[in-house]
Amino acid sequence: MSPRLRHLTTLENLPRETIERLLDRAEALRDACAHGTRKLNVLAGRTVLNLFFEPSTRTRTSFELAARRLGADVINFDIGFSSTSKGEELFDTLHTLEAMHLDAIIVRHKHSGTPDELVHHAMSGVSVINAGDGNRAHPTQGLLDALTIRQHRPDFENLTVVICGDIKHSRVARSDIHAFSALGVKRIRLCGPATLMPAVEEFPHCQHYDDFDAAIEGADAVITLRLQKERMASTDLPDEAAYFTRYGLDQRRLALAAKGCLVMHPGPINRGIEIATEVADGAQSRILEQVGNGVFVRMAVLNEVLAR
Ligand code: CP
Repeated sequence: MSPRLRHLTTLENLPRETIERLLDRAEALRDACAHGTRKLNVLAGRTVLNLFFEPSTRTRTSFELAARRLGADVINFDIGFSSTSKGEELFDTLHTLEAMHLDAIIVRHKHSGTPDELVHHAMSGVSVINAGDGNRAHPTQGLLDALTIRQHRPDFENLTVVICGDIKHSRVARSDIHAFSALGVKRIRLCGPATLMPAVEEFPHCQHYDDFDAAIEGADAVITLRLQKERMASTDLPDEAAYFTRYGLDQRRLALAAKGCLVMHPGPINRGIEIATEVADGAQSRILEQVGNGVFVRMAVLNEVLAR
């Protein structure tokens, strides 16, 4: 059995067994909640800190809900009203908060690698969970995307999965690729304009496309991504109308995919830019299922790193 995780900063190089254990636990928690269990007390007496230096709707809220459902106390650090604005440095903030006896820190930061720096600087016994760092990793999003696909198509080896959009700046794409690859997906197609694609050498086992019509043909799942302007050079910014024409997911394009193709998006969605409203809200959309699965995946991860 693969060892229990103390921290979760990336899915890269995580064994398939560990990923499957987390997905199985998320499913068990979802089943328990479906049968009326709303609160478990496995983390009673433990304290979890949400330390978000970038905005979030889904991840922060679902981590809070997940921690509370497991019985933990939660502190939501409000960066706008914190002493960070008075010049306090990250590690001074960390040690200050640790002095209040934390058990886990959930961190989102614009700089890739910040969660690993916290692992090195945090007191022993404090777990660090990455809620998104720069364009590097968003491991719980990768897990919840894998769980959403597994619910509908557990035959990962047979799947063709397309990720389309601003992959270069996307931590979600990276964690998705790591999760899907570990779970045995053989055909991962990456598609986007050249300026928003990762180097081929970063993912040599994926197929790289610039034509969305060609990429989506026969796909079983398609994940569209927003333009991450906050991480983009102004020269990389495409014209939005022209972008939608070439890379927007509309009904015509979806019809090129396999029957029942799962439509996914990590959110927040930008309607009419990377996805048409009728597709985002259509029968094949799994976008809100992804959000719901986020709570159970985050419960599973908190349980993994914190349960005694
Ligand atoms: N998918 C995701 O990370 O969404 P938020 O930025 O709203 O947390």
